[in-house]
Amino acid sequence: MADVVLGIETSCDETSAAVLVGERRSPELAGLVILSQDVHKVFGGVVPELASRAHLSALPAVVDRALAEAGLAWSAVDAVAVTQGPGLVGALLVGVVYAKALAYAGDRELIGVHHMEGHLFAPALEDPELAPPFVALLVSGGHTLLLDVPAWGRYRLLGATRDDAAGEAFDKVAALLGLGYPGGPAIERLASQGDPRRFSFPRPMRDEGYEFSFSGLKTAVLRAVRASDDLDRDRPHLARGFQDAVLDVLVTKLERAVRATGYRTAVLGGGVACNRTLVELAAQRLSGLARVAVASPRLNADNAAMIARAGWHRLALGERSDWTLDARADLPLPGLETVEIPQSAIRNPQSP
Ligand code: KG4
Ligand code: ZN
Repeated sequence: MADVVLGIETSCDETSAAVLVGERRSPELAGLVILSQDVHKVFGGVVPELASRAHLSALPAVVDRALAEAGLAWSAVDAVAVTQGPGLVGALLVGVVYAKALAYAGDRELIGVHHMEGHLFAPALEDPELAPPFVALLVSGGHTLLLDVPAWGRYRLLGATRDDAAGEAFDKVAALLGLGYPGGPAIERLASQGDPRRFSFPRPMRDEGYEFSFSGLKTAVLRAVRASDDLDRDRPHLARGFQDAVLDVLVTKLERAVRATGYRTAVLGGGVACNRTLVELAAQRLSGLARVAVASPRLNADNAAMIARAGWHRLALGERSDWTLDARADLPLPGLETVEIPQSAIRNPQSP
């Protein structure tokens, strides 16, 4: 098993490299560089072509810097773990081609990693005791996944979004409110000054099942924005009403899954898990039921440490990618099964 794994992440607008060093069970994060691409801010969203170009120019220096932080030369690296998908295909390609070239030229091992599996492993970087079974809620700009995780690498999909991802809803509502991109942090900041009683928005699909839908909520906010005669006055209250609705839906379904499975741990991951109010609400609602495992914000947003950690796990199982590894915008989560949840197991956690 490799002792030093270099991780590379370029699926969206962060160029990142990380170095994991150490023992089989709990590798140490020895170096991590995350370069957030500023260029997209003026466009109000990620421009794929610009993202690819920025990865291309920054990645070699980002990798060198991560190795320097770890105090290691490239020659010390045993394996390269890289995000294979999902994401922007041009952006992914830069990382995949670079990782393949490094591994091939240096005769090192190579492993392609699913971006969301990376998010799932992020809390394990800081919490070596974290182990399945657990329920995971992965909430990012592109995905909203509620998973039953009986073992690392085995995933039962309980529910996903039917339309917008949770992070996407934050970004779109931020745009409606005239806030910058990415919208999540701006909404969270503004919501902390908002009155929760001013706007009460719908909680789509909250009271049944495990699936999510956020596009109707976004439209409800749009209507309220259009109806407002003083947006400057209402903006914090709108942000608060929206955030309360999203978080209530997310946490209600997480709680439902925890009760149905009887697991004692719930993992939160993905960029939206940087939201302190989400983490606090989950801890409060699951108190006495399950502990909430969540990484610190730097490791929840896109980064290569989580990719190296998930790659580490797969390498430890003896998995390797070959030189045909290719970027895939729609890569399915490996080990994913869809299960029918018996109706009897699904009940509203609000009801007795
Ligand atoms: O996982 P991530 O960094 O990238 C993707 O894989 O998409 O997630 C980015 C998403 C964005 O939609 C961003 O607005 C959201 O995470 N986000 C937040 C917060 N910080 C980032 N959403 C709510 N509250 C936050 N504090
Ligand atoms: Zn992500």
